[in-house]
Amino acid sequence: ISCSVSPLNLHGDQIIGSSSRPADPSPLPGSFLFGTSSSSYQFEGAYNSDGKGPSNWDVYSHKEGNIIVDGSNGDVAVDHYHRYLEDIGLMVGLGVNSYRFSISWARILPKGRFGGINMDGIDYYNKLIDALLSRGIQPFVTLNHFDIPQELEDRYGGWLSPLSRLDFRYFADICFKYFGDRVKHWITFNEPNLLTILGYRKGEFPPSRCSSQFGNCTTGDSDKEPFIVAHNLILSHAAAAYTYRKKYQKAQKGTIGIVLHAAWFEPISDSVEDKLASERALSFFMNWFLDPIIFGRYPREMVEILGNTLPQFSGKQLEKLRRSGLDFIGVNHYTSHYVQDCLFSDCNEPGKGATWSEGYYWQTSIGQTTNLPWLNIFPEGMEKMVNYIKERYNNTPIYITENGLGELEDPKLRKDVSLQDVKRVEYMEGHLNSLIKAVRNGADVRGYFAWSLLDNFEWNFGYTVRFGLHHVDYKTMMRTPRLSASWYREFITKHKKMH
Ligand code: NOJ
Repeated sequence: ISCSVSPLNLHGDQIIGSSSRPADPSPLPGSFLFGTSSSSYQFEGAYNSDGKGPSNWDVYSHKEGNIIVDGSNGDVAVDHYHRYLEDIGLMVGLGVNSYRFSISWARILPKGRFGGINMDGIDYYNKLIDALLSRGIQPFVTLNHFDIPQELEDRYGGWLSPLSRLDFRYFADICFKYFGDRVKHWITFNEPNLLTILGYRKGEFPPSRCSSQFGNCTTGDSDKEPFIVAHNLILSHAAAAYTYRKKYQKAQKGTIGIVLHAAWFEPISDSVEDKLASERALSFFMNWFLDPIIFGRYPREMVEILGNTLPQFSGKQLEKLRRSGLDFIGVNHYTSHYVQDCLFSDCNEPGKGATWSEGYYWQTSIGQTTNLPWLNIFPEGMEKMVNYIKERYNNTPIYITENGLGELEDPKLRKDVSLQDVKRVEYMEGHLNSLIKAVRNGADVRGYFAWSLLDNFEWNFGYTVRFGLHHVDYKTMMRTPRLSASWYREFITKHKKMH
């Protein structure tokens, strides 16, 4: 990478003519994976090329009024489908040894399990995987990062139907079969917790289902459907992981895990009530998915509050969950919130701003706010989150599968200013230092992936929010490294030198 920007000191101040001082990476193991993350819908484009079928996100984003901010969609995205070789070149420039991407289900199975396999889709991912490996970059593959074939929505409402478990198992099996000889890290789902809440509680993601008091919807039941969907996602994870263990793992020797959106919830005071509120928030938001997979039951707080609204696992399903297991937990950590109890005591404004448990706790920002409503900068949250997962889940191996800073673009901002992303460097440095503290404290963390290699399609924010270590000019598709790219490269170099 040639980068003409000046480096920073530890506080993020510009230093002219001296080299930057990345955080001390010493306690990270030599085998540590450093990478960047992406997803098919946000990166690939080529939405109807070479036999790909329509996904739920194609249909959703094409409908007027859904991506309100800029009326955009992922039809072209950052054209990664055609530019993956150039993008791998950028990864080589960073010195990363892994790349996390997702497989577009509708590119492999345009009609889900109700049609044939699109061999052009298989070819694309084969080429991508081979090109990565030839440059010494391990593929870290997500099977589902929000986008599913529209066919499944049309036939039986996608994740609302228990039949979706058969669909996912079928798709996963094909991926293991065609790519598993070279892919050693599999993720079943990316952020099923966010997918469930946004798609079926608040109606802000396809299939836009909610009750009117929770969002702008005409269909759905925000108090019931999220639990049905979560149950199907958990059992779909189990079905795919079980298939991997039974049919492939012995020969292919890979690992399989799941990725959660892992916001940290810090009690606003030392009171027992606020600490319980923070536990409740973590349970309703994250443990909701991890507890069933790891312990075979929903979190205690959810059972107590929701009672029979939570679906039950049958004996057979529990057995499958037990045998499917989890080799690692993927942590997408960006943000933290303060929480205050509203269940046992009065709180400031019940329910205000809470992502999920309106009425059970009050949520407010912590640390430094940003121009994204959900993203507060609180680097300590990384250490706290990793410690929490380590303790609760018996030190299951952890990968930080996403971390990064997004900024709502100021349309007047000049490109050269956008390239000087001092705030992003500070953010990454703060979070990596915090992660290192957790590692020193014994957490088994095996990798860190920055979100993201490039600016890309940020879901409902369209192209107005930029997360890239590289700036993308959406007119020319030109990629330009930001300061954060050279900072990350230096951090990785320093780590490598220590091993
Ligand atoms: C997590 C999601 O997995 C990813 O798709 C999204 O772009 C980032 N968060 C940033 O919001």
